[in-house]
Amino acid sequence: MAPMPVSEIKIGHIDDVQELRKSKSSYIPERFIRETTERPKFDKSIVCSTKNIPVIDLSKLFTGNKDEFLNEILKLTVSCQEWGFFQVINHGIDLELLESIENVAMEFFMMPLEEKQKYPMAPGTVQGYGQAFVFSEDQKLDWCNMFALGLEPHYLRNPKLWPTHPSNFSGTVEEYSREIRKLCKNLLKYIAISLDLNEDVFEEMFGVAVQAVRMNYYPACPRPDLVLGLSPHSDGSALTVLQQGKGNSVGLQILKENSWIPVQPIPNALVINIGDTIEVVTNGRYKSVEHRAVTHKEKDRLSIVTFYAPSYEIELGPMQELVNANNPCKYRRYNHGEYSKHYVTNKLQGKKTLDFAKIKLDSEFKY
Ligand code: OGA
Ligand code: NI
Repeated sequence: MAPMPVSEIKIGHIDDVQELRKSKSSYIPERFIRETTERPKFDKSIVCSTKNIPVIDLSKLFTGNKDEFLNEILKLTVSCQEWGFFQVINHGIDLELLESIENVAMEFFMMPLEEKQKYPMAPGTVQGYGQAFVFSEDQKLDWCNMFALGLEPHYLRNPKLWPTHPSNFSGTVEEYSREIRKLCKNLLKYIAISLDLNEDVFEEMFGVAVQAVRMNYYPACPRPDLVLGLSPHSDGSALTVLQQGKGNSVGLQILKENSWIPVQPIPNALVINIGDTIEVVTNGRYKSVEHRAVTHKEKDRLSIVTFYAPSYEIELGPMQELVNANNPCKYRRYNHGEYSKHYVTNKLQGKKTLDFAKIKLDSEFKY
C-alpha cells in the first residue's frame, strides 16, 4: 500500500489524555471507548496470573563460566521460542542513567500542553508529541500520550522536535541511546548463538541499524475497563527494549495462548521483545508476539521504548539455514524501508502488518 500524503489524512479532534485526566471528570469521550470484544478484563485470573515472562541474567552471558553461559543461552532459546518476550537483569547499564531518562521523560510530560505542542507529531508521521498511528476520524484512540524521536542514523533526526526543556533532555537521550544500542548489539549476538548461527550474522545483515525512542505516558483513567492504553500490535523492529517507570502499575500485557498475560515490572530490569524482522529472518522460529497496554484507575504509568531495526536500505528474507522441508519458507523477501513505511502508515492491529511479508500458504490464509 502506498503511504497516504500527509495532507490528505483527516484524523479529527484528538483529546489530550493528560488534559482529560486533569479535568477529573469521569466522562470518557466516545473515541476512546472500545468495542466490547476489545475491552480489557480486570478479573482475578488476570491480576493473579501466575505465569511470568522469563528473566535472563545477562551477567551469566557477559562473564559467566561455560556452564552458566550455555544454561543462560538455553533459557534465551526457550524465551524467544515460547514467549517472544523476556526481561533482562544485570544488563550492565548504569542505574543512574535509567533513572535520569525516566526523570527527563517525566519532566517533559509534566510541561504545560502548549509547551509540548511545540513538538507536534504531524498526522501520518511518528516523531514528536501526540498520538501515533491515527489515520481516520472514526478510529478508536489510545489512552496514551507519546513522544517519539528518530535517533540513528542521524539523518532521521529532526532537530526541531528535540525539546529544549528540560535542559538535560537531549544529552540524556543521547547517552541512554548509546547504551541501549550496545545492549541490542549484544542481545542480537546471543540470539544468533541461541539459533546456532554465527554471532555476527544479524549485525552483518542489518547494516547501520535504525534506532528510535518512544516515550509513552499513560495517565490514570476513571474507566480502565473501557479503554486501552495502547492497541494490540507487534513491533515492526528487530528488537525492542522497554523500560517501565519505577514503582509504576502493571500495564503491559502480552498475548499467550489466547490470554493476556501481564508483565510484572522487576526493579531495574529491561523488557526485551522480538520484533517482526527477527520473525521473518528466522522464518518464524522466533516470533514477534502481540502485546498491548492497559490503564489503571488511580496510577499513571510511563514507559520508555527503544526500537532497533535494520537499515532502511536492506533487503531481508528468511535465512537459508532456517528454511527446510519441515519449515518451508513462510515470508517473501522485501526491502526493510518499505516494510517500515507500511508499518507506520497503518493503524496498530495485532499482527496484521506482517501480512505484508507472509507467503500465503493455503492453511494460513486468515484475512
Ligand atoms: C510500544 C509498546 C508498551 C508499553 O511502545 O510498542 O508496546 O507498556 N509499549 O508502553
Ligand atoms: Ni510494542
